[in-house]
Amino acid sequence: MTVTIVGSQLGDEGKGGVVDIFGDAVDVVARYQGGDNAGHTVVHEGEEYKLSLVPSGAVRGKTGVLGNGCVVNPATLFEEIDALRERGLDPDVRVARRAHIIFPYHRVLDGIEEEAKSEDGEEVGTTGRGIGPTYEDKAGRRGIRAGDLVNEEVLREKLEYVVPQKRALAEDVFGVEVGEEFDVDALYEEYSEYAERLVEGDMLVDAGDFLAERLDAGEEVMFEGAQGTLIDIDHGNYPYVTSSNPTAGGAATGTGLGPGVVGDGDVVGIVKAYLTRVGSGPLPTELGGVEGDTPGYTQGEGRAEELATYIRDEGGEYGTVTGRPRRVGWLDLPMLRHSTRVNSFTGVVINHLDVLAGLDEVKVGRAYELDGEEIQTIPATTQRWADCEPVFETFDGWAEFDSEVVAEEGYEALPAEARAYVEYIEDELGVPAYALGVGPGREETVVRTNPFE
Ligand code: GDP
Ligand code: IMO
Ligand code: MG
Repeated sequence: MTVTIVGSQLGDEGKGGVVDIFGDAVDVVARYQGGDNAGHTVVHEGEEYKLSLVPSGAVRGKTGVLGNGCVVNPATLFEEIDALRERGLDPDVRVARRAHIIFPYHRVLDGIEEEAKSEDGEEVGTTGRGIGPTYEDKAGRRGIRAGDLVNEEVLREKLEYVVPQKRALAEDVFGVEVGEEFDVDALYEEYSEYAERLVEGDMLVDAGDFLAERLDAGEEVMFEGAQGTLIDIDHGNYPYVTSSNPTAGGAATGTGLGPGVVGDGDVVGIVKAYLTRVGSGPLPTELGGVEGDTPGYTQGEGRAEELATYIRDEGGEYGTVTGRPRRVGWLDLPMLRHSTRVNSFTGVVINHLDVLAGLDEVKVGRAYELDGEEIQTIPATTQRWADCEPVFETFDGWAEFDSEVVAEEGYEALPAEARAYVEYIEDELGVPAYALGVGPGREETVVRTNPFE
């Protein structure tokens, strides 16, 4: 059986924590897209683990797989594995031979293009990890895959083809002088060492075969989505998106198991009880951005700005990877309706209910107004989305509560106003809330349904 965990909004909904909470019965956790742009937090026995590439299940001794849909920076991978080992864990991580590899020139080019775009205030606000340029090379059929690293001749041949192109792009198109990151010999040497380590650790797999065998043996597999639906390259807020498919369909194409396998299990949308965004792009229900931040944000005023700051601080809303303060807004239902359809959610997990506790009132953008009409989902173009004005529904706030007590006693122990908020979301989306996050810790979750049971 499989369960797929998908970000329903703009990333950082608390996916890592949910993988952990539902992960007891799981044998294998597979990432199906993205790379070290992700930042997933797991709190285990009071210790916080922040993982960008190693699947979250590794903290609990599960086998982690980076599927063919991922882009893998081996430097980050080994750094992360070594850091976990230093903390007494022994992560078992496998890498799909079909996964594309991030090289230093991808990171440099990511930065160069962002810089060029920023002259007109058009930058995406990427994590700078080289994600876009690596997926570009994949689509351009000039990428280098994990399976290529272990074949010396193939690796050298491919580097010799691609690196001069990249150098010319940097120097002749963008006018930026580049260094070792674009040197074939240096790259060959560095990446041959990674290859050795991949082979020694028996880490390379044909992901589809590997996962199918584990399923056939009766094991449970969890697909761990990174990023979120609104930054999906196809279904998100293009061009302010990442370059992969975080949506549930990605779990099939990004692992080598078919849509029948993914669709046979639950698909769980992870929802933050409000909204955050790092990076540029519109956000109709935005309360307030951060001074000097990326383009497209709404500078809140007075009470809105105060609320944004309050929620940011209460929720610790600073980027896991980049440390950037996150923009903050109210929950956006048109966004979640879009997300529920795109992903076929069978249920959701609503996190961060504790963060909103203590507010007098809580708002939800229940629809948008566009050209004098009320609409229920998201327009396909960013320009139209930016024109949408939110139509708010106001809820009574709920008082602060003891998260551990509520998690232990169950759903009914939540303040009635918080339950009304949850039930409104369930009704609007037509799916149940499997669990509710009331704090960052593992014990701070109200579990109503475990999709593996
Ligand atoms: P991910 O990228 O979706 O895995 O989420 P991140 O780890 O980037 O961000 C979520 C943050 O919120 C982490 O610091 C989590 O520990 C924390 N978190 C998750 N669920 C809850 C919750 O219900 N309440 C609070 N206060 N924090 C939570
Ligand atoms: P997790 O898995 C939030 C955003 C970046 C930028 C855009 C493109 O922790 O939820 P990229 O580096 O991917 O080319 O950047 O996507 N972004 C994320 N935002 N959470 C993430 O991951 C993100 N990964 C990328 O901020 O706007
Ligand atoms: Mg994150």
